[in-house]
Amino acid sequence: MLHIKNLTAGYGKVNVLHGISFDVNERECVALIGANGAGKTTTLRCICGLNEVRSGSIEFLGERLDGLSGHAIVRRGITMCPEGRQVFAEMSVVENLEMGAHTRNDKEQKSDVEKMLDLFPVLRQRAKQRAGTLSGGEQEMLAIARALMARPKLCIFDEPSLGLAPKIVEEVEQILVRIKAMGTTIVLVEQNAAMALRLADRAYVLEAGEVVLQGTGQELKNDPQVSKAYLGY
Ligand SMILES: Nc1ncnc2c1ncn2[C@@H]1O[C@H](COP(=O)(O)OP(=O)(O)O)[C@@H](O)[C@H]1O
Ligand SMILES: [Mg+2]
Repeated sequence: MLHIKNLTAGYGKVNVLHGISFDVNERECVALIGANGAGKTTTLRCICGLNEVRSGSIEFLGERLDGLSGHAIVRRGITMCPEGRQVFAEMSVVENLEMGAHTRNDKEQKSDVEKMLDLFPVLRQRAKQRAGTLSGGEQEMLAIARALMARPKLCIFDEPSLGLAPKIVEEVEQILVRIKAMGTTIVLVEQNAAMALRLADRAYVLEAGEVVLQGTGQELKNDPQVSKAYLGY
């Protein structure tokens, strides 16, 4: 479904991705794990058209994405739940959800807002509240729901568990399980490698802008290098 080949990208004079290649098949959950600064967010932003692709290619459902605008990429079925949630703080919960659907032109946005409020009961309680007044966990749920409002074929999550209490992290994990069961393909970036490898069908390990290891979630969980570096045992 998603085919990334020899991707390089960077900031100013510096390249931070040095030829990354990976694939995501339909209905798979693929995790990217790696230390802070490895280039995970940059990779995701390239897929979404938010960072310039310097060389290499990104193909989605047989079509080149590199060079398209972020807007055009959302229309093709890719959305991101960004690092740090980035909800629209001054807008209400429902308005944030509506924003998630702004590239759609069907008539089912309203019923989809209702579906999201069913899926995330905590958001229903806060429907009219400004998003900036929500707790970190509630904002994460909102960012996830907003990403789903575009009805993505591929949904990308950048560190959804970052900074959340353990109980909320568990909730986020259960939601990702449900999103996958709904048939949505997932790319998941997590520093919480244990969680990422539980959820992922396959995973890639990024180090300093390169893919250094890949395998099934289970294989990587059992890999001595991975468990020492990322799982803490
Ligand atoms: N806006 C930016 N300007 C300059 N350098 C950046 C910017 N964003 C990220 N970087 C650098 O690019 C590298 C990769 O960052 P990033 O993709 O955010 O890594 P990760 O998400 O794996 O922590 C890091 O060295 C980081 O300092
Ligand atoms: Mg990051």
